[in-house]
Amino acid sequence: NSDYLTPTPPMGWNSWNAFEKDIDEKKIMNMADIMVTSGMRDAGYEYLVIDDAWMAAERNEAGQLVADPVKFPGGMKAIGDYIHSKGLKYGIYECRGDLTCQNLPGSFEHEQTDMDSFASWGVDYIKLDACFAIKNGRLSSEDLDVYHQAIVHTRRPMVLSISDFGSGAWAWGGKNYGQLWRTSGDIYPTIRSVYNCANTSGGDGSIHPAFQGLWQFAGPDSWNDPDMLQVGNLKTTLEDKVHFSLWSILAAPIMAGNDLSKMTEETKKILLAAEVIAINQDARAHQGYKVFDKDSVEIYNKPLSDGTTAVLMLNKGSKKTDITVQFNTIGLQGKQKVRDVWLKNDLGEFDNSFTANGLGKHEHVLLKIGSKGATPVKGPAPIPEEAYTVTQA
Ligand code: GLA
Repeated sequence: NSDYLTPTPPMGWNSWNAFEKDIDEKKIMNMADIMVTSGMRDAGYEYLVIDDAWMAAERNEAGQLVADPVKFPGGMKAIGDYIHSKGLKYGIYECRGDLTCQNLPGSFEHEQTDMDSFASWGVDYIKLDACFAIKNGRLSSEDLDVYHQAIVHTRRPMVLSISDFGSGAWAWGGKNYGQLWRTSGDIYPTIRSVYNCANTSGGDGSIHPAFQGLWQFAGPDSWNDPDMLQVGNLKTTLEDKVHFSLWSILAAPIMAGNDLSKMTEETKKILLAAEVIAINQDARAHQGYKVFDKDSVEIYNKPLSDGTTAVLMLNKGSKKTDITVQFNTIGLQGKQKVRDVWLKNDLGEFDNSFTANGLGKHEHVLLKIGSKGATPVKGPAPIPEEAYTVTQA
């Protein structure tokens, strides 16, 4: 359906993880430039989102939001024009409360005025936060309906990113109001935080016990959002890589959050890994889900549109581990082709199962298994534990 604003998970760059409040026109323009010159735009990173602290402390006499005059002297329309001139889309942050999380003007009781401003500035994507929102700082369907109606009223299609994990928007039809919703608290640049956030979206229900995994709520214009990327901000390249593998298989929004002007070649290679991105952006729009979680070993499964299945086998523990997946547990029988998407390498044909040998801490393989044209199972069929074999040294 071409009417979807986000038929696959949105991709882009957001200013928060890299710069927090310390943003300005020059930096944002520089990031836009690098999104193009680095190849990120052409790899799919489409939105440049200016997060909190772009606005002046006071509204103007007409009650409209205005840019911080020191940080954005040209105003928010001009920066949007610049972003558009680079072939990118323009995202902006606001908050449902009286104040944003940084104590700047929120849009409570200014909803239509603000959505009109955004539309007139050419905004394509709104990240809506929940600080100081009316009901205990949580966004309700009533809150979101106000924004949804206000956006419709502008007649400009704008993505609404629901930045409040506590709302539990997946459960009550967040997709009727916005296109993505946070499932986790804020991500921090540690692998522990990355694993926690991933678990809120990909977990089996132990995090959100009322549901057998949030994968079932994902699809075009309805994405579970375990928060923005810390790729490039973590301690090691391996940590950055496992972070990207998880976001890929979880069909999570891919919002880079590193300072692009300081991006290393290793970080760039990860963010631009075309086959890993392709799993995230797969047209079947099915979220991956965890099918095995024991002894610090996790296995995730994501059925793809070409009939193959993406499988992530990850060792979070420190013992060297062999991990085996039986093909029948992912809906495939007999001999199957296996491709390692990080290595961009066909590993060959395997009978009934595949084993990744000797994986150390944070080591993992991201695979495509199966032949084109097959129909992998959808959703987590209850997987018998014996389907996965873990041998630890
Ligand atoms: C909240 C959000 C973050 C960021 C900050 C900005 O904490 O979850 O992603 O937008 O607010 O103040």
